[in-house]
Amino acid sequence: MVETFMITHDSIVDSPGAGSPGELADTQGLLRFGFKHHTDAVFLLLRVKDAAAARHWMGHVQVTSAVSLDPLPSTVLQVALTRAGMSALGLGADVLGGFSEEFLEGMAGDPNRTRRLGDVGASAPDRWDWGSGDREPHVAVLLYALPGNLAEFQRVTEADCAAAFDLMYRLSTIDMGGVEPFGFADGLSQPEIDWDRMLPAMDQQQLSYRNLSCLGEFVLGYPNEYGLYTPRPLLDAQHDPHGSLPRAEDSPDSADLGRNGTYLVIRQLRQDVRGFWRAMDVRAGGVDVEREWLASQVVGRTRSGEPIVVDESAGGSAVAGADFATGRGSTAAGSVTAEAGTGRGSLTARAVTVGSTPTRAPDLNAFTFDADPAGNRCPIGAHIRRTNPRTADLPPGSTGVISQLIRTLGLDSKARAEDLAASTRFHRVLRRGREYGVQLTPEQALRRLAPAESGLHFICLNANIQRQFEFIQSAWIMSTKFNGLHEESDPLLGNRLPGSGGTRCDYFTMPRADSPTRRLEKLPQFVTVAGGAYFFLPGIRALRFLAASGAG
Ligand code: HEM
Repeated sequence: MVETFMITHDSIVDSPGAGSPGELADTQGLLRFGFKHHTDAVFLLLRVKDAAAARHWMGHVQVTSAVSLDPLPSTVLQVALTRAGMSALGLGADVLGGFSEEFLEGMAGDPNRTRRLGDVGASAPDRWDWGSGDREPHVAVLLYALPGNLAEFQRVTEADCAAAFDLMYRLSTIDMGGVEPFGFADGLSQPEIDWDRMLPAMDQQQLSYRNLSCLGEFVLGYPNEYGLYTPRPLLDAQHDPHGSLPRAEDSPDSADLGRNGTYLVIRQLRQDVRGFWRAMDVRAGGVDVEREWLASQVVGRTRSGEPIVVDESAGGSAVAGADFATGRGSTAAGSVTAEAGTGRGSLTARAVTVGSTPTRAPDLNAFTFDADPAGNRCPIGAHIRRTNPRTADLPPGSTGVISQLIRTLGLDSKARAEDLAASTRFHRVLRRGREYGVQLTPEQALRRLAPAESGLHFICLNANIQRQFEFIQSAWIMSTKFNGLHEESDPLLGNRLPGSGGTRCDYFTMPRADSPTRRLEKLPQFVTVAGGAYFFLPGIRALRFLAASGAG
C-alpha cells in the first residue's frame, strides 16, 4: 500500500504533538517505555473462545498508557490483536480493509513472504510451535511486573480471560540482566522518537545520519519520514457516530482507527548458544582472546557493548557529523525519559566514577561507519552494521555538489553497490524483545553437553511492517548480496540453506587494513524461528472501539 497523503508543515503546526498528555493517555506504554524495571514478563497468546466475552474483556481491561512511569506501576498490561483475532471478534471488512496487506496476510500467510523473511528449512512455519495455520494467535497479552509481582498478576489475568479465550501459549521470559543468550549486551541502540513533532513534516534529504525519527515511523496517525501519513484504517464517520475515535489529521471527515496505535511483530528466535560458541572456538583454534574477537566481529560490538568500529587508539571516535539523539531529554524528565529512549539494559552514557571524579562513560551509540568504508574495523556484514548501517540519504562520500549529483544519479559504481544500505531512516524498528531459557556463559556453553534451550522473544514496533521490519529482515539480514557482499547473510541470524542454484550463504568476510581479508566459511545456523505473528497494537480508544464494534 502506498503512502499517499502529502501534507505541509503548516497543516499540522496546530495539531497537538503525540507527546501531549491527551495523546499519550491514548497510547499503549510499550511505544514509549521498554519497562526495564519490570524485569519479570510473560506473553500470553490467546484464541477467542466466546466473542462477546472477549469484547467485554477488551472493553474493560486496564491497559498501561504512555503518560508516565512515575510512580512505577507494579504491573503493566498491553494488548495486541492479529487479523484473525479481529475477525474472530466479528469485525467486518469495512474495518479490516484499511490495515496493511502484510498485516492482513500474516507473517506466515504467504510463501513469498516466508521465503523473503528466511523462514525456510528448520525455520519454516510448518515447524513452528505457534503462529502458522490454526496455531495463529488471536490476541497477545503482554504482562510485565516489578520483581516478585508477576505470578499473582498472571494468575488473576488468566482467570479474567478464561471465559473469553483459550490460552494457546505462554511465552515465558527470564531476566538475563540486559544481555541476550549468546552473552552480548542488548537493547543498546534504539531510534529516538520525535514525540513533540519538532522535525519538519516534509521529506528533506538528510546528508548525515540522524537517530531522531519522525513520530509517524512508529505511531500511526502522524507524518512519517516521507512527510506522509502511513496508510491505516480510516473509517467513514458514520461508523463512529459517538465520536469515540479521534478524527484523522489528513482526512478530518474520517475516524482514525490507527491513531496512537502501531504494528507489533513477535518472533520467537531459538538460539543455539553452544553451537555459536563452539563455532567461534573452533575457528579461533581454542584461543580465548581470538574467540572473543571473532564473536565481536560477528555482532559488531564486544560482549559488553563497545562498538568495534570505534578505534580507541585514535581517540575513540567514529563520529562524522552525525546527529545522535540517544533518547534522553525529549519529552519527560529524569529516569522515565532515559527508559523511554534506550530500552532495557542500556549501558549508554552511564555515570561512572574514575578516582574521586564522577565522569560519564562513552556513549556507546555515538558512531557511524563512514570512517570505515571497507569494513576493516567492523565488517560490513556484522549484525549491527547490517541492521542499522547508520547511513544518510546518499551513500557515504563527500557532500560536495558535484559528488552529490554523481551519486544521486547513480553514476558511481561503488555508490551503486552501497545504495541498498543508504537511507537508514526509512528502515528503523523499536526493539522490545525479552530473553527466555537458560543463561550460559561462553565457558559453560563450551563445556556443557546437555542442550539447554534459550532464545529471544524478538519484539519490535513499527508503523509500516513492510518498509521497516520486513525490509531489515529480508534486504539486510537474509540478503546474500548486501552492500557488495556475496554468498553470506547475517553471520548471527542467517539461514544457511543454499539459495536457488546451490548458492552458498555461509561465509563471513572480515577485511583487514594491514593483512589479507579473512573469510570464515561453513558457518552453522545459530538462530531458528520457532514462532511468530504480526499484531496491531491499538491506541486505547481504538481498543475500546474495536471491543464495542464487533458486536453489531
Ligand atoms: C536471536 C536473535 C538476535 C540476537 C541474538 C540479536 C542480538 C543483537 C545484539 C547483541 C545487538 C547489539 C546491541 C544493541 O544495539 O542493542 C543487536 C542490535 C540490533 N539488532 Fe539484533 N539480534 C537478534 C535479532 C534481530 C532481528 C530479528 C532484528 C531485526 C529484524 C534485529 C535488529 C537489530 C537492530 C536494528 C539492532 C540495533 C543496531 C544499531 O542500531 O546499531 N536483531 N542485536
